[in-house]
Amino acid sequence: MKSKPWGGRFSNKTDKIVEAFTSSIDTDKRLYSHDIEGSIAHCRMLSKGSVITEDEASLMVKGLLKIKKDIEGGRFKYDDSLEDIHMHIEERLAKDIGKVALKLHTGRSRNDQVALDVRMYLREETQFIIRELAILRKIIVALAKNHINTIMPGYTHLQKAQPVLFAHHLMAYYEMFSRDAARMSGCLERINVMPLGSAALAGTTYPIDRNYTAKLLGFPLISANSMDSVSSRDFIIEFLAAASICMVHFSRISEELVIWASNEFSFIGLPDAFATGSSIMPQKKNPDVPELVRGKSGRVFGDLMSMLSIMKSLPLAYNRDMQEDKRAMFDAVDTLKACIEIYIKMLPEIKINKDSMLRASSIGFLNATDFADYLVTKGMPFRDAHSCAGKAVAFALGKGKELHELSLAEMKSFSPLFSEDVFKILTPESMINRRKSFGGTSTKNVISAIKQANKVIDKELKS
Ligand code: ARG
Repeated sequence: MKSKPWGGRFSNKTDKIVEAFTSSIDTDKRLYSHDIEGSIAHCRMLSKGSVITEDEASLMVKGLLKIKKDIEGGRFKYDDSLEDIHMHIEERLAKDIGKVALKLHTGRSRNDQVALDVRMYLREETQFIIRELAILRKIIVALAKNHINTIMPGYTHLQKAQPVLFAHHLMAYYEMFSRDAARMSGCLERINVMPLGSAALAGTTYPIDRNYTAKLLGFPLISANSMDSVSSRDFIIEFLAAASICMVHFSRISEELVIWASNEFSFIGLPDAFATGSSIMPQKKNPDVPELVRGKSGRVFGDLMSMLSIMKSLPLAYNRDMQEDKRAMFDAVDTLKACIEIYIKMLPEIKINKDSMLRASSIGFLNATDFADYLVTKGMPFRDAHSCAGKAVAFALGKGKELHELSLAEMKSFSPLFSEDVFKILTPESMINRRKSFGGTSTKNVISAIKQANKVIDKELKS
């Protein structure tokens, strides 16, 4: 059994069950590289300010780098009695390089150390996620470009509404994921603040140079209040909120893929490599991947709820409750990354059934609005035109016809304003291309939206 770094004031051993209960090593061992990098920067800052000698610092840095190698080579033993990754590394350093290691914790506390590690970890992951989202957005835009002539029914209430370009539908997701990336970038600004040097809660008596540590670790800012630094986790909450919103978007596109892949819709075919079969029904090809993404969104919302509940009502400053922050954070990062990755691979492989989409766009009175709009252009007030078109729909339904299948004489029975030119505006192509208002589905609009999106992403991916 290892002696505890904090064991000085204790005369009895910690109960085993308490050791197991309070240990977080299984979770926070993932922070090892950030912990070591933070410790190295701390060492260098201490020696620059002559709190420790240069020789002591270089001994510690060497020792820390060796520990990193050992961890990566699987030669590091973990032990519940050492609680967390910070104590594991410190105790191992003492074993490897002797007493000088005990100086590493000068002017620092695990409270500011863990805050630093978590910020470094989340900064790296958030940057990665922003980049992955850019790649996904590029894939969505490329798919849209390939389908600039593919027409599908647009829906409201999952009832056919008006025809749209499939590219326009896809570009809606481009917009959603762009906002997700922007939210992540905003969040990154608040993650990217260096807390080390706040010590336990009140700052430290040693002549430390926090700006120097920040410079070594690539932080543009240092935190302004030591109590806030060690006890705030709103940067994690914010990340989880941004991740949750992004997962809402994934759940929506996933739901659409599930629906579109159904036999009833048959708008898409999922690639074999991204679908699974049934152990009992030989005909089945199940959309498990989008279903799971849809399900995993619930998991990330749960992570957000955990984090909000962990932080709610905590008095300043650090409280051990906060050790529970990592599970939610890691889970959300892993889940979101996995979903982005699977979409990057799956989307280009989906087979789009253009013909089914077009067929579905011509059945179900998707041209009723245009039928009414036609009468408006001929001088009828919109409300009257709407009611006239409604009556025509009811009539056509009775005849088992679509509006564009009515004869001119039949149309004229609803209004004398109809003439031969009505037929050409009732086609899906014409309906789409007449929707030229900015942001609408006309081919011209969508082409320029795609161009603009490509410009934005290429710039992002270059930086
Ligand atoms: N394992 C702890 C955590 O993750 C580190 C900080 C512990 N601080 C303390 N005073 N017990 O929050």
